[in-house]
Amino acid sequence: MINRVGHLKQSQMINQGSFYTPEKFVRMAADWLKKRGLDSSYTIVDTSCGYGAFFQLSAYFPDNRFVGNDIDAAAVETAKQNFPFVRLFNTNALSHIARKAFRLNDDKICIVGNPPYNDVTSQIGRNVKTVRHEIDGDVRSRDLGISFLKSYMKLDADYVLVLHPLSYLIKKVNFSSAGFFFAHYKLLESIVFSSHEFADTSRAGEFPIVMALYEKTHSEGLSYHTVRQYRFQTVEGDRFRLADFDYVGDYIRKYPHRKRYNPEILFYTLRDINALKRSRTFITERCANAVDVDPQKLAYYCYIDLFKRYASVPYWMGNFDVPFHAGTFDRYREDFLNLACSFYPELFGRRTKPSKETERKVKRYIQGVCGRISANG
Ligand SMILES: C[S@@+](CC[C@H](N)C(=O)[O-])C[C@H]1O[C@@H](n2cnc3c(N)ncnc32)[C@H](O)[C@@H]1O
Repeated sequence: MINRVGHLKQSQMINQGSFYTPEKFVRMAADWLKKRGLDSSYTIVDTSCGYGAFFQLSAYFPDNRFVGNDIDAAAVETAKQNFPFVRLFNTNALSHIARKAFRLNDDKICIVGNPPYNDVTSQIGRNVKTVRHEIDGDVRSRDLGISFLKSYMKLDADYVLVLHPLSYLIKKVNFSSAGFFFAHYKLLESIVFSSHEFADTSRAGEFPIVMALYEKTHSEGLSYHTVRQYRFQTVEGDRFRLADFDYVGDYIRKYPHRKRYNPEILFYTLRDINALKRSRTFITERCANAVDVDPQKLAYYCYIDLFKRYASVPYWMGNFDVPFHAGTFDRYREDFLNLACSFYPELFGRRTKPSKETERKVKRYIQGVCGRISANG
């Protein structure tokens, strides 16, 4: 198994996104490509190959040409020793993107790989010494992985089989940001798994990753509507569809805005469930991330606070908006208000003493929402 990055320090690993691919995913990738009839006329290309985990595909595709590249010279050296038959390059795959850089000419190409995915604007906060490599203007994005997806489109790949955060598909802003890619490709296969599958990733920051096979299309590419209706499956055997849930975010303001209310109640910016787990909910001081709460909508914010306290959700929901059950919400409105208020008497300007029954009802509602999550799975 080739998934260690022995020559890199932790900071380098974060900078370069060097968490290498477990072999079982390479096997699954081979099955998918076989199923789609990938024949020996295709050149299999990994533009961020690391030690070359994906060149293990050669066991299943012995007659294909393989091309590899990595910005890390030491990784390329190891890949060369592991897979001497691969034509290897040591260049920045995001700068001066062109087929000729990898001597691809008119080849039919299938891009494979596990490109780095990290938010290029957030590394300073993580105390990592950031090295910025040049990126062509037309593939630039705040996430390196999205830049890589765009680079595959620029290289005009017929098939793209990559691992990337599930958020690129399910979060609308990310989906739009990668629009240059999704507009030209359709999704053929996918499997969702936890970032914990990578040996060196931190326990705390678990998030869902998808391995997906895309095919270039000359008609319509992938739309966000299709993603919402798409039935995802996880390695654990859970199944889910975004469209099967109601989301409380569709009923309230999630980001700071200009409108002010009396009384002033502030809530922390709401991104997704993973962010909610890490952040505060109701806050007392105005800050750049403060959202002014419309008093008419207060029960929804109370529900989110209680969801954070009581819900137990699987990792694959990490990038979802907070789910709820719209049809029965009104029946529990007063219970959400009373219970949340008991945790913030100063903020709400009143002291409530919710009964045990209120607490039970709220927990049952949240379990019901989470039950739907398991039932969907
Ligand atoms: C997540 S690792 C994946 C390695 C390998 N694809 C695998 O599946 O095991 C990402 C690799 O991308 C490389 N990388 C990061 N930025 C790059 C760039 N701009 N051009 C080429 N390679 C890059 C890193 O050096 C690292 O080896």
